[in-house]
Amino acid sequence: MKRKTRIGLVTSGGDCQGLNAAIRGVGKSLFQYVDNIEIFGMYDGYRGLMERDYKFMEPSDFSGIIAQGGTILGTSRQKYIPGKAIVDKDGNDMMPAMLDTYNRLNLDCLVILGGNGTQKSAKLLKDAGMNVITLPKTIDNDIYGTDQTFGFQSAADIATSVIDYIHTTALAHSRIFLVEVMGRDAGWLTLTAGIAGGADVILIPEIPYDIEKVASLIEARKRKGRTFSIVAVAEGAISKDDKILSEEERRKKKDANPHSTISYDIAAQLERLTGQEARVTVPGHYQRGGPACPYDRVLATRFGTAAARMIMNREYGYMVGVVGDEIVKVPLDEAASRTKFLPVDHPLIQTARDTSTSFGD
Ligand code: F6P
Repeated sequence: MKRKTRIGLVTSGGDCQGLNAAIRGVGKSLFQYVDNIEIFGMYDGYRGLMERDYKFMEPSDFSGIIAQGGTILGTSRQKYIPGKAIVDKDGNDMMPAMLDTYNRLNLDCLVILGGNGTQKSAKLLKDAGMNVITLPKTIDNDIYGTDQTFGFQSAADIATSVIDYIHTTALAHSRIFLVEVMGRDAGWLTLTAGIAGGADVILIPEIPYDIEKVASLIEARKRKGRTFSIVAVAEGAISKDDKILSEEERRKKKDANPHSTISYDIAAQLERLTGQEARVTVPGHYQRGGPACPYDRVLATRFGTAAARMIMNREYGYMVGVVGDEIVKVPLDEAASRTKFLPVDHPLIQTARDTSTSFGD
């Protein structure tokens, strides 16, 4: 009798829209094309793999989930010691137990859906001898080797809609409004939502800002009769002054800052410099919630079905990505090697500048 093909599914790190569409793509495709397939869904990411806490998945588990937000398997963040280990909350190396589960279940491959950190930790699993295929998920769009990650477009839609809604109240009250957008240390999400929402100023980590320049732009707008201004602020935005500080100095300054996020700090400075009232809106995790937009559902389905094809061909050690409109296999070593920050010469930055949007530089 033909040997069974046994697959483990893991969703790891912060959730985002499209995870269930990707899971569905993997499962539906494998059940359709592979005889004797067994799929084990690990609960809460690497925790489930370590503690052998999993669900034996039936074909019906992959139905009716394409529009569902979050992940049907649950997820968790684990501490990653760069290039060395994934550790549990007590600081213990999780690898021996994860390898043990992999061997006991006699898995052929783990399909790991995750962001930037997960690509790095998945590489450790590969280096420990496990067959691994990863899928790029994150609202940050900062994974190297793929033009786009699933989750990004859905979050960009939400952040844009927040900016749209803020416009009307900003206008009614003649206020400066700062909308803080997620994205960790990369500016993709803020730039996209800022352009789409028609923000007057976009502050991203890759282009350090000068607060005086932001204030004079707002004052110039006021002189022209534009009594409100919208500033899209990336959570990782940084001023020119802070950029030249050492990491230690920056950390100390952050610890001493009474404001919980950077936008409140910028708002206080803008009020002082312009004399205009400023308010802050932080949509936060709302940007990661709810159903995926159609674009992300399709992209995640393409990634999931591509992973299933790679399993059938026994092509392991890759992240599935998209370059242009083509699905590609990116060696995991490459995908995990660096973060994809927004290049400062990216054409979208010029597009924003061409419509008089300032980056405060
Ligand atoms: O990486 C995705 C992301 O949403 C970032 O944009 C954000 O900085 C971070 O995760 C928030 O992490 P947590 O969900 O652990 O608060």
